[in-house]
Amino acid sequence: MVKQQAQRNRTLRLTEAEIAQLQPQLGRLVEAVARPGVEIDSEMDTAPEQQPNLNNCILHQDLFAALPLLPQGVVDLLFIDPPYNLTKSFNGQCFRERSPSEYADWLNTWLPQLLPTLKSTASVYVCGDWRSSGALQQVLAQHLFLRNRITWEREKGRGAQRNWKNCSEDIWFCTVSNQYTFNPEAVRLKRRVQAPYRTAGASGDRQPKDWMETLQGNFRLTSASNLWTDLTVPFWSMPENTDHPTQKPEKLLAKVILASSNPGDLVLDPFLGSGTTAVAAKKLGRRFAGIEQDLMYCCLALKRLQFADQNPGIQGYVDGIFWDRNAL
Ligand SMILES: C[S@@+](CC[C@H](N)C(=O)[O-])C[C@H]1O[C@@H](n2cnc3c(N)ncnc32)[C@H](O)[C@@H]1O
Repeated sequence: MVKQQAQRNRTLRLTEAEIAQLQPQLGRLVEAVARPGVEIDSEMDTAPEQQPNLNNCILHQDLFAALPLLPQGVVDLLFIDPPYNLTKSFNGQCFRERSPSEYADWLNTWLPQLLPTLKSTASVYVCGDWRSSGALQQVLAQHLFLRNRITWEREKGRGAQRNWKNCSEDIWFCTVSNQYTFNPEAVRLKRRVQAPYRTAGASGDRQPKDWMETLQGNFRLTSASNLWTDLTVPFWSMPENTDHPTQKPEKLLAKVILASSNPGDLVLDPFLGSGTTAVAAKKLGRRFAGIEQDLMYCCLALKRLQFADQNPGIQGYVDGIFWDRNAL
């Protein structure tokens, strides 16, 4: 049922009729015959030795059922936003908090099985919070080259009486080998200049040092670091917002995708949720594949993908530049 919502509230919701209409576009990997993607053809008979084609498809499926059927050596970028180590309901399916070592065991039940899908040049990003991060680092280091830990500021969050307000999350950046794509110029950040130093130009006039003067103000283009403070967690007035409880910002995915893939590359997200990875990949000219257990979330992803055709913009990313929060 769609809730009544205020006019300025742009949260994307689905009616039962929309879910019924969108559902046939979802794929599912099945033994021997693979029928993924939007081009579902019930008569299609794929030879068992042929790999399923994951191009631009959303699989409505439990990850554990899909894992043994995924194609090998095809993925350029794997973005993983798994349930964190806390008790959380995803539309009725509850993930339960466990000890750090049990969480590490759970990671090891699926992560190694995803690795054969990767090309030797692929990158892998895995999200977590401070409770999950220790186990993530330990498990990822067993299987991949750990390259960095990005920390991003979530300005949303509740204050606590006896602890620090939880305002940050991590994303572990790993690669399969020492050969991988990284495009630093694609993810530079445009920041307001705090201290506008000038140096003498050729004709003796004072020129901006490493910054630009524009009608909108003074800005500097800075290299993206592993501390991201320019993101806004989706909320009710943003068109990308849905009721998914842990939806990531499209801008976050845009940074990962632009830095670690090239146009036409295949981006896989095995815990797709509301489809943020697929939407950002589509907007940036990459191929995408996502796996999600919940029907409503899968259909939200499909609807967001339809909207991406009409509005390919990503909030906070304009003319090929990432803008600092509230700088636009
Ligand atoms: C942290 S959320 C991902 C949110 C997503 N990044 C977004 O922006 O919307 C994790 C998702 O994984 C899904 N999930 C959990 N266990 C799963 C499983 N075994 N197979 C498939 N999906 C699963 C949940 O339903 C949830 O939507």
